[in-house]
Amino acid sequence: MNTTSEPFIGMQKTELDTPALLIDLDKMEANIQTMADYFTTVNAMLRPHVKTHKTPIISHKQIAAGAIGVTCAKLGEAEAVIHAGVRDVLIANQVVGSHKIARLINLARHSEIMVAVDNPQNVRDISEAAAAKGVTVRMLVEVNVGMNRCGVESGKPALELAKQIRQSPNLKFEGLMGYEGHTVAKPDLKEREANVQEAMQHLIDAKHYLEKHGVEVSIMSGGGTGTFNITGGIPEMTEVQAGSYIFMDATYRNVEGVGEQFDCSLSVLATVVSRPAPDRIIVDTGLKVLAKEFGIPQPIGITGVEMTGLSEEHGTLKSVGQVSDADVPLTPGDKIEILPTHCCTTVNLHDRYYGIRNGIVESVWDIAARGKSQ
Ligand SMILES: Cc1ncc(COP(=O)(O)O)c(C=O)c1O
Repeated sequence: MNTTSEPFIGMQKTELDTPALLIDLDKMEANIQTMADYFTTVNAMLRPHVKTHKTPIISHKQIAAGAIGVTCAKLGEAEAVIHAGVRDVLIANQVVGSHKIARLINLARHSEIMVAVDNPQNVRDISEAAAAKGVTVRMLVEVNVGMNRCGVESGKPALELAKQIRQSPNLKFEGLMGYEGHTVAKPDLKEREANVQEAMQHLIDAKHYLEKHGVEVSIMSGGGTGTFNITGGIPEMTEVQAGSYIFMDATYRNVEGVGEQFDCSLSVLATVVSRPAPDRIIVDTGLKVLAKEFGIPQPIGITGVEMTGLSEEHGTLKSVGQVSDADVPLTPGDKIEILPTHCCTTVNLHDRYYGIRNGIVESVWDIAARGKSQ
């Protein structure tokens, strides 16, 4: 949906109707800069993930700050950012089936698109479609680095797929990708560092194996917010796919070595709609605007209450600890802000962001790739 921003610009954020997804623009910009600064100190470059914000203007801000391009999970995200002028796009995922491959090939006409592969038939299908249209598709072989999601095993399987790509018309083998997703949210830094080194060794071994067999590996891609400054510091890595750092959330905030460096810039504005009992406060933000797979989100800056439950359109807050119910002065009509526990899936529940600076609405951005899971 396309939003007309004009009626909202200049409003106090508390005047906005709710539920509303807010970005604290100062904090988001600081996060972009902090990450960009880190990548001036290492060999690897930043290729931030679109799946977090799903919004081209934010990709452009990340690129303006030094990112080499973007990472997408889905074709729908890639279409949204490419149509908005982003050129260097990695789909860090498998694009399978004739309809999706046709969309991928069409994007290759308008961008430097690159896609992850882990299957010989998929490589053949993309090669044939690319040859039929006379375009070139760049490819990374995805290696399983221990997450046990997609990816071929390091060594011979990776070499065979790389060789197949090199021999296929209209395909360009660029390198390897490995996502160490099983390590990114480990709160303890030492433990995470050890897990990441072990995981990424699979990718490094694959690179050495390919090079020993005469296959040049230009790109080594992986990493996320929880590992940006571990994976990013591995000399063999050329790019890191961090996404959540732009907003952070209550989960990543507790990840040592990461949480301290970025500010939580995303919140959901809620209205108290009922206080049916002194110890029960009901807000208008339920499961349809707040994700809870990483835990129930909590209000920001309000002591003495805790969100204890979410139903479809309601959030239930209760007073906690020694706080007397009378000390919690929330009544129907009051507005509070809630910090998501998972920024990426929360964003996907909303049509637009309200960009806030100094408490005032400065911009309204449609979340162009919201729901674009195909
Ligand atoms: C392939 C891939 N790369 C990178 C990331 C990193 O994302 P984040 O920075 O949000 O942890 C993810 C997260 O799901 C991913 O699936």
